[in-house]
Amino acid sequence: MLRKIAFSLGLGLAVLSTGNSGAGAQTADQAWLKYAGSHGRIYVPLKVRALGSSLLEQSATQELRRGINGITSGSVTWRTSAVQGQTVIGTVEEVREAFPDLKVPTDLGADGYWLDWEGSIDSGATLVVAGADQRGVLYGAFALLRLFASGENVAYLNLRSHPAMEVRWVDQWDNADGSIERGYAGRSIFFEGGKVREDLKPVAEYARLLASVGINGCNVNNVNNAAPFLNSEMIHGLTSVADAMRPWGVRLAISVDVASPQKIGGLTTYDPLDPEVKAWWSEKVNEIYALIPDFAGFTVKADSEGQPGPASYGRTPADAANTLAAALAPHGGVVLYRAFVYNHHLDWNDPKADRARAAYDIFHPLDGKFAPNVIVQTKEGPIDFQVREPVSPLFGGLTETSQAMELQITQEYTGQQRHLVYLAPMWKQVLDFDMRVGGSATPVKKIIAGKNGGMVGVSGVGRDAWLGSPLAMANLFAFGRLAWDPSLAPEEIASEWVRLTLLAYPDERLRRDDIQRVVDMLMQSWPAYEDYTGPLGLQTLTDITGSHYGPGIEGSENNGWGQWHRADHEGVGMDRSVATGTGFAGQYPPEVAKIYETAATTPDDLLLFFHHVPYTYKLHDGKTVIQYLYDSHYAGAAQAAEFVRDWVSLKGHIDPALYDNVLPRLEYQAGHAIVWRDAIVQYFFKLSGIPDDQDRAGHFPGRMEAEDAHLDGYQIIGVTPWEDASGGKAVICAPAAESSARRSCSAEWTYAGASGGFDIAAQFFDLQGGSAKFALKVNGQPAGQQSSWSADAILPTRRPHGDNSTRHIVEDVALKPGDAIRLDGTPDASDPAAFDYIEVLPAATDPH
Ligand code: GCU
Repeated sequence: MLRKIAFSLGLGLAVLSTGNSGAGAQTADQAWLKYAGSHGRIYVPLKVRALGSSLLEQSATQELRRGINGITSGSVTWRTSAVQGQTVIGTVEEVREAFPDLKVPTDLGADGYWLDWEGSIDSGATLVVAGADQRGVLYGAFALLRLFASGENVAYLNLRSHPAMEVRWVDQWDNADGSIERGYAGRSIFFEGGKVREDLKPVAEYARLLASVGINGCNVNNVNNAAPFLNSEMIHGLTSVADAMRPWGVRLAISVDVASPQKIGGLTTYDPLDPEVKAWWSEKVNEIYALIPDFAGFTVKADSEGQPGPASYGRTPADAANTLAAALAPHGGVVLYRAFVYNHHLDWNDPKADRARAAYDIFHPLDGKFAPNVIVQTKEGPIDFQVREPVSPLFGGLTETSQAMELQITQEYTGQQRHLVYLAPMWKQVLDFDMRVGGSATPVKKIIAGKNGGMVGVSGVGRDAWLGSPLAMANLFAFGRLAWDPSLAPEEIASEWVRLTLLAYPDERLRRDDIQRVVDMLMQSWPAYEDYTGPLGLQTLTDITGSHYGPGIEGSENNGWGQWHRADHEGVGMDRSVATGTGFAGQYPPEVAKIYETAATTPDDLLLFFHHVPYTYKLHDGKTVIQYLYDSHYAGAAQAAEFVRDWVSLKGHIDPALYDNVLPRLEYQAGHAIVWRDAIVQYFFKLSGIPDDQDRAGHFPGRMEAEDAHLDGYQIIGVTPWEDASGGKAVICAPAAESSARRSCSAEWTYAGASGGFDIAAQFFDLQGGSAKFALKVNGQPAGQQSSWSADAILPTRRPHGDNSTRHIVEDVALKPGDAIRLDGTPDASDPAAFDYIEVLPAATDPH
């Protein structure tokens, strides 16, 4: 049963107290590095012997000791069998020297490791953790601990592994002032007030977390507003950041503004081919390497969304990239040049205009022209981290160039961490997608793994428990695991993460069906989100010029940004075929292009991305597009409600603090999924005029609109966009005309349904700028427990809108015909206690 949302979204969760760390500290223990138990019996030689003493090996040894201690101590020792002998850790050379008789592999691959059990449980064993290099030692230690903690039997283990790709980076979009672009977890752990923060302990812990899943680079600043990061003072500050991450093998990178020679260097130009500009970059890079010898390189956003770029001088991205690359090459640094280059002033009236085409149109002709230390970094889809897009055709269009795939861990268009959306299944589809370059098998994962490329995840961690929401951490974990091994199944990764994260009460292991329940929730979460936001390739139907959060269907239309879906009275979708559309489908290698060219061969889940079809067009199973839109939105919202029930079933079985933290988030999501469902269903119902064959569109049993109530003080307003409110209208408690003082307002309805016990949902707008109060009454008496509440969450948009439309449920209310149901709203500061409707629902069985 839903209950009060008792949390401030985006605030107030600075410490997630589910770990065993000291209060107040932000540590990796709060994520998956808990080392507080295991799910199986562990056999381990407790004595750890370090063969080397390099910085990374010291970290590895400490981690191993700490992990073994944590996992095997305290109340879980009954599951541990201490084995005589030793756990030995070092590089392959060191192991070979110490154990000349051991057959140590000679071909592990960079950053790889070998875990080997010699001897027997009864008479003593040597458990070897050998790294191909120092990083490999660190990754081997973490891998062994992961096996322990997730309950895998390590006795008689013989395992070798190495990362599939070289670039395994996270990108932060942190600004020097401490804010984070598209961050949903508080302020920056790196910066504040224009400078690097004094307290970099969270940075070291972040690096530890990253290392535990094999991530080897971190770009710390926003791709926009990057110029100040090349000031000498900032470079000095960044030295401490690099120092904090170095023990964990995570190299520092930064985003740079290509206009820096002019903006901060005092030159009159930033033309990448100008000799003075080239010299400026070399000098700047030398300055960086003098302080940070293992500096990883630069990320560049240029000629995109207002950022300056080489186009101002008639130069190409290759010209700009190569200038930076030449400066970095002597030091071993790389340039990650983003292919996210497009014109955001496209003509909406031009049926041939198509933003999706941009990356390929611009970068494909430059294939072969990039210096060897340039890596073209391409978002996974051709638009912008939507809930579903086809794979970017550019991955198949650059055969001579190193490529990295950019993914978003921070959930910009996928619920901003307030919604549970496990993204690994989406990423996996992209990695496995076969581009058929040259007519043979070329999965994207193979393309990016070749030529020193890899994966970059825009992570957005902040000071609020890393990603704010504990379950969102599965995405950071999965990103690292997939960058290491893209052949892993998302479900396997989820299961691993759940076993590491959702420890039970200290001396209880998690039950198998509980683990599976959370894994299932994760696995169902992306499809559910797609269902209640933008299915069939429509993309996330949000206001793309606003917060990118709640529903806003026309927000992407009629402007130059090119995230169009072209819905009209007759049909919906964007024609990107070669024959009649923008020609985007033709950017894929021929076998793939052929599939996307016609609606009949395009998979349903991308149909409207590639084709404009009538609402009555039949999908592959015979259902019409419009009926699918109705059905999927109802199914998605129902699934979100199911997540609450799933979680409630875990009560008493998992860490109680984690349980309490997550429950209100899922309850909130279930309510917001209904906002999405209703907005999109009523929008397309009105636009198409086609009824829902299950009669749900336009019919809401038990719903009583605010605008139909007897209103005392409340004023009716139109909500924009109209579909974000039921019937397009809401009420606000505005100041009384005669004074500027606020007062309470009320709305009253006479109940005309059957007698019985019900739940009553109130749909209100939780606006920033104050905490309005609400109270639900029946015949003048409080309607039951939790019948009064505050609108105190921090949600986007400062006026009544789908971003902040929130559901509160009052349970078990006795009603009979003729009862007066009243909602009182008391504004606070600039929050006018706005609401949309109430809804009398059948009482649910209370699972709490
Ligand atoms: C999106 C996002 C921006 C970001 C941009 C980028 O458009 O909304 O905040 O700057 O992507 O990837 O550069």
